[in-house]
Amino acid sequence: MDSQNKYSKSLSTNLFFLFLLLSTNLLTLFFSSTFYSSCSFTPSSTTIKPTNTPTPTPTHTTTTPTTATKLSTKGTDNYFEPNKDSIPDLPSEFLAYTSGQLLPFGYSTNFDSDTIFPPVGLSCTRFPGELRRYMSYQVNGSCPDDELLAQKLLLKGCEPLPRRRCRPAASPDNVEPYPLPTSLWSTPNDSSVVWTAYTCKNYDCLINRSRNQKGFDDCKDCFDLQGREKTRWSTSKDSKYGGLDFGIDEVLGTRKPGTVRIGLDIGGGAATFAVRMMERNVTIVTTSMNLNGPFNSFIASRGVVPLYISVSQRLPFFDNTLDIVHSMHVLSNWIPTTLLHFLLFDIYRVLRPGGIFWLDHFFCAGDQLEEVYGPIIESVGFNKLKWVVGRKLDRGPELREMYLSALLEKPLKNSW
Ligand SMILES: *[C@@H]1O[C@H](CO)[C@@H](O)[C@H](O)[C@H]1NC(C)=O
Ligand SMILES: *[C@@H]1O[C@H](CO)[C@@H](O)[C@H](O)[C@H]1NC(C)=O
Ligand SMILES: *[C@@H]1O[C@H](CO)[C@@H](O)[C@H](O)[C@H]1NC(C)=O
Ligand SMILES: *[C@@H]1O[C@H](CO)[C@@H](O)[C@H](O)[C@H]1NC(C)=O
Repeated sequence: MDSQNKYSKSLSTNLFFLFLLLSTNLLTLFFSSTFYSSCSFTPSSTTIKPTNTPTPTPTHTTTTPTTATKLSTKGTDNYFEPNKDSIPDLPSEFLAYTSGQLLPFGYSTNFDSDTIFPPVGLSCTRFPGELRRYMSYQVNGSCPDDELLAQKLLLKGCEPLPRRRCRPAASPDNVEPYPLPTSLWSTPNDSSVVWTAYTCKNYDCLINRSRNQKGFDDCKDCFDLQGREKTRWSTSKDSKYGGLDFGIDEVLGTRKPGTVRIGLDIGGGAATFAVRMMERNVTIVTTSMNLNGPFNSFIASRGVVPLYISVSQRLPFFDNTLDIVHSMHVLSNWIPTTLLHFLLFDIYRVLRPGGIFWLDHFFCAGDQLEEVYGPIIESVGFNKLKWVVGRKLDRGPELREMYLSALLEKPLKNSW
């Protein structure tokens, strides 16, 4: 067992991240400046000039700004001149967003502070070139059509991305979505999507690519609602791999009727899982990236909720709240092990006691399941309701890949 080694490695990783965290906090403090009353301001696309507005001193009592003040990142007592040697030249809109902003009514006990530091991913400043391109736009104008740049930045760790003060690219001839329930199983109109970031430029092409296109694309056949999507999870009997495909009704049948009401599908592709659950009156939010396809637009057009976060981001739900978390084909051995460990604990966190985690077709190489992933999954504290292991053959038997489908329950009592 090399667990000793593994632990010392993860300790140094942790220390490294602690160091990063501390240093970025200092960085933010360094940049802290003020942004007073939003009652009136003049957005400007050029470098924001110092203003000579009176500077209210932050107090711990309610203060009412008296004069109209201007948006400012400079020219107040709270502004620290950045050290030019240690900090890359960051875009002014990035500084405007992330800099400390004084609460108009002063110190708040809820915040335990008089200042808000709007959040962005810790790693944003590691990619100053891309960040500069992303944050270069005309304030109050149209954002650049730069979805691909934004997604790459996000996937590298600039997550959440900084907010922008511009309007996102949108198709000029947008149409209303199909009404429910038609929308659930209809291919949306092409004009609901900005196609710039994708190889395909219409839904026809996306539907065809499962048949015509060689090579890999994430969820290649997901846009064809008349194909495989049509029967996914509808029954547990059409299994090619001997029991790895659980049916939704079979899974819901393990719970008291009506107690599975809300949940999350991680990396849910075209959101067919959420659609089927909606047909059973269960509300599911589907996380997805737009990897060479307009997954988020498509999910929304179907009439279920897309959530644009990667597998790296903390789930935006409170502890002990969701009835079910499902994930198919996404949680697998491409995810760094430490990240996966955190993610599994995050799933455990958001599930309510008695909630279920349906791990659907987790895959990895043969011996990894026994040596690495099985123990990690088991360590989190779920009860095993179902645990089915089978061979994954789609890329050839010589790769000795394995699938795991499991139904795991967060204990109803003593889950802490
Ligand atoms: C912001 O943009 C909108 C729409 O283009 C325009 O009507 C408005 O006047 C602009 N506001 C400012 C303060 O420039
Ligand atoms: C899609 O929208 C366009 C208008 O932008 C319309 O001309 C077209 O008929 C629509 N297509 C479908 C299939 O509804
Ligand atoms: C998709 O396939 C159909 C039938 O094979 C074909 O008629 C159509 O032109 C294809 N569309 C695109 C955009 O490739
Ligand atoms: C969903 O809810 C509606 C309205 O309450 C009800 O009529 C319908 O039978 C429910 N469907 C299922 C599958 O439970």
